[in-house]
Amino acid sequence: MTSTATRPRGARARAAIAAKTLRTDRWWFAPLITVVGLSAWVIYATVRVFMHKWYWVDQYHYLTPFYSPCVTERCVEGSSHFGSFLPGWWIIPDAALTLPFLLLFRLTCYYYRKAYYRSFWLSPPACAVPDGHQSYSGETRFPLLGQNLHRYFFYAAAIISLINTWDAIYAFHSPEGFGFGLGNVILLINVVMLWAYTISCHSCRHIIGGRLKHFSKHPVRYKAWTGVSWLNVRHMQLAWITLGTLALTDFYVMAVAAKWITDLRFIN
Ligand code: FES
Repeated sequence: MTSTATRPRGARARAAIAAKTLRTDRWWFAPLITVVGLSAWVIYATVRVFMHKWYWVDQYHYLTPFYSPCVTERCVEGSSHFGSFLPGWWIIPDAALTLPFLLLFRLTCYYYRKAYYRSFWLSPPACAVPDGHQSYSGETRFPLLGQNLHRYFFYAAAIISLINTWDAIYAFHSPEGFGFGLGNVILLINVVMLWAYTISCHSCRHIIGGRLKHFSKHPVRYKAWTGVSWLNVRHMQLAWITLGTLALTDFYVMAVAAKWITDLRFIN
């Protein structure tokens, strides 16, 4: 229940209802599945990032997005497209330049905020279900005040999507020259989905169509804004789809690099 101290001026207190919630549906299912899904993904990604192996297939130039760009001295030959200038200490991820920004981009994403506020912090876990905490200060104080930096992480994420696009193009390779296999299809799908998620960002929508008084005077921006808006209403789905494509792409590259499977080749 909202405390008197945090209740907006003039707002009335909630009705005195003894029951925790009057909802009888499975309101707890969405927060529960969110906790399970996000926790599983974070555990998988953490293990992979600190594994420091099976991220590059030299034969076909496949590089997993979790190691892109590979910038430490430990990076295996051929996998560093932008130089290897960081020390190869275990604690430093091989993609140390990009992973922090990607993490911050997702952490401050409007959708993920809703997801983890509800499911991990129970704040509140669902509509018409009481908050798990006595007080609520929103995003007005440190550290949650930092959520406002999301628009800047969007620019970083756009640059990283460009790097991932380069990785996907660079992977059209075989020992004889041009090549094309199932790994390319997976890398391409992943990069298309990453772009869709990045462009569907609320900050992107504002950058494209915000601060305009008359759409009629800016037909190109209006057209672009319409496209971004179409993606924007699918932002939650894209947030989950990209978690899936990232993990799948990484797993496939790992499986080929570790020689558990061989890549299915369409053009050698
Ligand atoms: Fe989700 Fe920007 S709002 S990435």
